[in-house]
Amino acid sequence: MTAPSGASVGAVRDVPTARASIVSLSDVHRDYPIGAELVHALRGVSLEVERGDYVSIVGPSGCGKSTLLNLVGVIDQPTSGTVAIAGKRVDAMTDREATSFRLHNIGFVFQRFYLMPTLSALENVELPMAEAKVSARERNARAAKLLEYVGLGARQHHRPSELSGGEQQRVAIARALANRPALMLADEPTGERDAKTGAEIIALFRQLNADGTTMIVVTHDEDLANAARRKIHMRDGRIVQE
Ligand SMILES: Nc1ncnc2c1ncn2[C@@H]1O[C@H](COP(=O)(O)OP(=O)(O)O)[C@@H](O)[C@H]1O
Ligand SMILES: [Mg+2]
Repeated sequence: MTAPSGASVGAVRDVPTARASIVSLSDVHRDYPIGAELVHALRGVSLEVERGDYVSIVGPSGCGKSTLLNLVGVIDQPTSGTVAIAGKRVDAMTDREATSFRLHNIGFVFQRFYLMPTLSALENVELPMAEAKVSARERNARAAKLLEYVGLGARQHHRPSELSGGEQQRVAIARALANRPALMLADEPTGERDAKTGAEIIALFRQLNADGTTMIVVTHDEDLANAARRKIHMRDGRIVQE
């Protein structure tokens, strides 16, 4: 899955995590340099998430939730500490290794969906499969199935601008599932959406988790947070209670 060039180094760095653990963080710090100052966004976070679990992360704005999720999503790297996903160290990967790892292991849903505006719903969902070199025929069939799964079977050929906010988020969820990730991450996925959309996303995430996907969801939406099996509270760069 990772680039062969990194395999030998990666193998040495791989950590023996508990078999059930899909996410393992140990004493993770993340500092952002702002001019001469350092913002301590994470101040020593350790966390284990078991395969199949459904975790929500809550806490006040600025407490480090997105920073933490980005490290788990291999979008960012810690200043110190270790991050392992599915037993593989991801905290010091090259960009290439990280891109490949994300493509095959992680689905990420953002508050702003980041769909391609010129592509149809179907084409948007096909994109990550094209990157993973899935054949045109297979990705077309799977994209259609995924849109059915998220309740958008009748909207395949619509462009994002022709869909409601809730529908666009469901396309983004289908896209995140394209390469069958074991781990699904969502950062404020119900952000500015209405209550009906919130309820739809809650139902969809429950289904996804029931179908075997490990879920980690950052949210300020109480209903969405309570839909998880385990709720993690953060404050000032730390996990404060569970
Ligand atoms: N790219 C960045 N550069 C500098 N500071 C950042 C950056 N991203 C986040 N921060 C700071 O790190 C802290 C945690 O931010 P964040 O993880 O986005 O919080 P949350 O998602 O809980 O609202 C905040 O003080 C924020 O201003
Ligand atoms: Mg955030």
